[in-house]
Amino acid sequence: MNDSREPIGVIGAGWVGLVTAACFAELGHDVYVRDIVQEKVDSLARGEVPIYEPGLSELITKHSDRLHFTVDMGDVLPNANLLFCCVDTPPSYSGDADLSRVERVVEEVGGSTDHALVMKSTVPVGTGRSIRRRSDSLGYVSNPEFLKEGTAVDDFMRPDRVVIGEDVNGATPFADRVAALYEPLEAPIVRTDVASAEMIKLASNAFLATKISFINEIANVSEELGANVDEVARGMGLDQRIGPQFLKAGLGYGGSCFPKDVTALKQLAGNSGYHFQLLTAVIEVNELQKRRAIGKLQKHLGTLVGKEIALLGVAFKPNTDDVREATSLVLAGRLQSEGAHVRVYDPVATERARDMLGGAQVKTSASEAVDGADAVVLVTEWPEFRELDWHDVKARMRRPLVVDGRNFLDGELLKQAGFTYEGVGR
Ligand code: UDX
Repeated sequence: MNDSREPIGVIGAGWVGLVTAACFAELGHDVYVRDIVQEKVDSLARGEVPIYEPGLSELITKHSDRLHFTVDMGDVLPNANLLFCCVDTPPSYSGDADLSRVERVVEEVGGSTDHALVMKSTVPVGTGRSIRRRSDSLGYVSNPEFLKEGTAVDDFMRPDRVVIGEDVNGATPFADRVAALYEPLEAPIVRTDVASAEMIKLASNAFLATKISFINEIANVSEELGANVDEVARGMGLDQRIGPQFLKAGLGYGGSCFPKDVTALKQLAGNSGYHFQLLTAVIEVNELQKRRAIGKLQKHLGTLVGKEIALLGVAFKPNTDDVREATSLVLAGRLQSEGAHVRVYDPVATERARDMLGGAQVKTSASEAVDGADAVVLVTEWPEFRELDWHDVKARMRRPLVVDGRNFLDGELLKQAGFTYEGVGR
């Protein structure tokens, strides 16, 4: 239990806001959560959590006495000085982040001298400075989130680091108070200026995306030269300067953060007059990686017109029902434009994706999806796909072709079972 309890405001009850609110409640603080959607607030007040994130609804139920949900900013401002801004900043058509929701929050609290906006939303470098220029009475602290979907509660409670940025001369009372909130977590706290804090977030995601595109290119070259990318990644990852994480070759990255943040940083650099060459390539490689899967299908099937293709997995990664920027959606679209008939199966995510899958048929089991198929493409590495009875799958398919987009299956086993198996860089 925390001795220095500080009531906290959380603006935006989306995924980041709810995880932040629930975890601060777990640390002993009263949390006032404001969202503009009445229905969402009502269901949260009843203890119903609208998103799937392991451990989250348990924490929200456990701390129902500390968590106060409201649509009214007037319920938050008298109770809390630190307002964690967790509204979304989606990409606009230009690739720049759309800051309209952040700006509405600033308008609502801008005149205050008692409050600080603590920015958790991912924003372009320079956002803090421009908000402070418009509203210099309001305190401003940058405190980016580094949460991964599926492990967000754990990531919050056991972070690699906490980043806190503030620009004031002399005393830094608000940033000190934010830092105090994180002290029980016993993680390194990086105190810095606002612009650097904003850049740490974007640069971290851009670097991880670069690692993924890099290993995907190594995979593509390995295919030509007869090396196995899994072995290459294992050998590289043991070098402590490189590290084993984010070296899994596949169909490329998706999700709500990487595509958006990499594009935003490239665009931000461009707006400042700098052409970020490396990120241009990172994005291009990520796009082409999906194209290669289609090339592998064509290599074995010839034209895709009229071919039945089963996509296993729709979520952008396993253990989530999130389909934002999911590879499956891009593949389903491209395959259909090549004339193929597409069927998809995912253990949890098909309902969310139904409207985005074009004419693809949504199936209720993997067996149903592979029935009569000319090829299976493994898109998301859900554990249940490894457990499939592949002899049964082969008996159901029209042709025994598997394109394993995540190097998730045992290629040798599949070959022994009579499949034509294509991995990535294997
Ligand atoms: C990411 C960041 O990890 C997190 O710090 C940030 O706050 C939000 O964005 P998340 O989007 O939940 O989190 O997913 P993550 O687990 O990081 O995976 C991102 C994508 O990269 C997935 O599509 C995944 O399949 C892909 N990936 C990841 C690879 O293709 N290879 C890898 O080695 C690792």
